[in-house]
Amino acid sequence: MIANITFFGIMAPVFTIFNQDFSVNTERIPDYAHYLLDAGINAILVAGSTGEGTSLSLQERKNLTEAWAEAVKKTSQSLMIQVGGGPFPDVVELARHADSLGVDAILTLPELYFKPKKTQELISYLKFVSAAAPNTPLFYYHYPTQSGVNIDMGEFLEQANGQIPNLKGIKYTSSDLAGGHAALRAANGKYTIIIGGEAVIEPALALGFTSAMAGAINMFPRYVREMFDTIQHNKLEIAAELQRNLTEITNIVSQYGAKIAGLKLAMNLFTPINVGLARPPLQNPSPYKIEEIKKRLEPFL
Ligand SMILES: *[C@@H]1O[C@H](CO)[C@@H](O)[C@H](O)[C@H]1NC(C)=O
Ligand SMILES: *[C@@H]1O[C@H](CO)[C@@H](O)[C@H](O)[C@H]1NC(C)=O
Repeated sequence: MIANITFFGIMAPVFTIFNQDFSVNTERIPDYAHYLLDAGINAILVAGSTGEGTSLSLQERKNLTEAWAEAVKKTSQSLMIQVGGGPFPDVVELARHADSLGVDAILTLPELYFKPKKTQELISYLKFVSAAAPNTPLFYYHYPTQSGVNIDMGEFLEQANGQIPNLKGIKYTSSDLAGGHAALRAANGKYTIIIGGEAVIEPALALGFTSAMAGAINMFPRYVREMFDTIQHNKLEIAAELQRNLTEITNIVSQYGAKIAGLKLAMNLFTPINVGLARPPLQNPSPYKIEEIKKRLEPFL
């Protein structure tokens, strides 16, 4: 039986913690889960873009999934695992593994080399992933600027309806809000569309999105929480200011290397959880710039 789970509200895509030699550290995961819980975050995505999922080996991803599955037993947070972006047999294996651990949902990128060009090709791929995790709600990860796959998500939901038994929604990481709105209408309450990324959370919420996920939520959760509140209470000027600030934060962390590396630095500077550096090929900010980045981000705390 597939749980009728829908994700609402604020989700944190978690960083993968690396040791100094860039091996994966799973020991700090219980503290990380508790830190997020204290920050009001009840849903977590592992091995997404923020989690550098595509930079991890199959065994590392399994270890990470097991450690988070164990940690959320104590915190009761919802757990979504990103299984895609690897060779097809690995994706199937990760889906099966996540299913066997009873996680709340899996999320998958499309095939990144033999990219689907037609909606039905994407549906066929997702059917295989779905069959490997028959007891777990499945979400599709739409992130065209990274994956290079830009299938129309409204059309996708219309065609997928009934074809993928456990499809529950989409993580929609794109600033194309017309396309997002079309997906929302096609979802018609049956699927959850999660807005991904920092750039357009406020307009997405105003359009009717009910769920948001972005790396900056890890260390600046209040911006997104207050966006939900202010939009609900029609305080649109404040909502717009919150979005401006969140966008400015993202611009700052992106100026010194890879955005994810900048976010990891911000996490290390402003929270009790040390997530280490980003793994190559991502570029980390130069140590000489750390003070400058800190000074520029501090006004937003
Ligand atoms: C996975 O976890 C096992 C058990 O803790 C450990 O021995 C192994 O080194 C880990 N593998 C990787 C690739 O991190
Ligand atoms: C936006 O950031 C500025 C600092 O640059 C701060 O003074 C202001 O209070 C922030 N606005 C909100 C709504 O958090």
